[in-house]
Amino acid sequence: MRYLLPLSCLALSLSAQAEPLDPLIKEGMALIPPFQQQLMATVKSAVESGGPQQAVQACQQLAPQITAEHSEAPWRVGRTALKLRSQDNAPDPWERAVLEQFQQRAAEGEPLQNMSHAEMVDGEFRLMKAIPTGEACLACHGGSIKPELAALIDQYYPEDKARGFKLGELRGAFTLRRAVD
Ligand code: HEC
Repeated sequence: MRYLLPLSCLALSLSAQAEPLDPLIKEGMALIPPFQQQLMATVKSAVESGGPQQAVQACQQLAPQITAEHSEAPWRVGRTALKLRSQDNAPDPWERAVLEQFQQRAAEGEPLQNMSHAEMVDGEFRLMKAIPTGEACLACHGGSIKPELAALIDQYYPEDKARGFKLGELRGAFTLRRAVD
């Protein structure tokens, strides 16, 4: 009996350490599907109405706008990657380290689906979720982009590194942050 109290206190303090991030993780994760769906729907309708060329223009103009729209205070949402198309999506050092961690975890056999990482960083809650390369992404991020499309991408993104991806590879990640008081 004597040990029961200290043991349960230990259990409580352990769970108290693990739990505070859970509601934030849940809240953040819930913001990703609507953001992702709007990006996908925008690309899809642009491809349908004018082909991939039209879609590159749509992405260039609309992706930053959609990103801003989904950043409802106190949250900021975005996408980032190690191999970038738009410099506006460049990772900061923390994001770069998490992307490298994702790559490492994938190399060790962990599926990218549902791979994520959350952490408090300088008083801010930060969350990243891996984005695998899907079939629909290859037209613009794969290894054999149509020449006329590649030319257009070169024109808009002269420093583009976001091509040559294979199906299922880590394309990038959603990245979310919010201040926590
Ligand atoms: C029609 C061409 C096109 C298709 C299809 C496409 N993308 Fe992109 N992608 C772009 C363009 C253009 C950008 C840069 C504009 C932006 O998003 O800010 C981009 C940017 C990104 C970024 C942000 C990081 C960066 O490199 O700037 C990620 C992540 C991304 N795409 C993932 C995907 C995934 C995953 C798919 C498939 C589900 C996909 N893309 C399909 C054209 C495309």
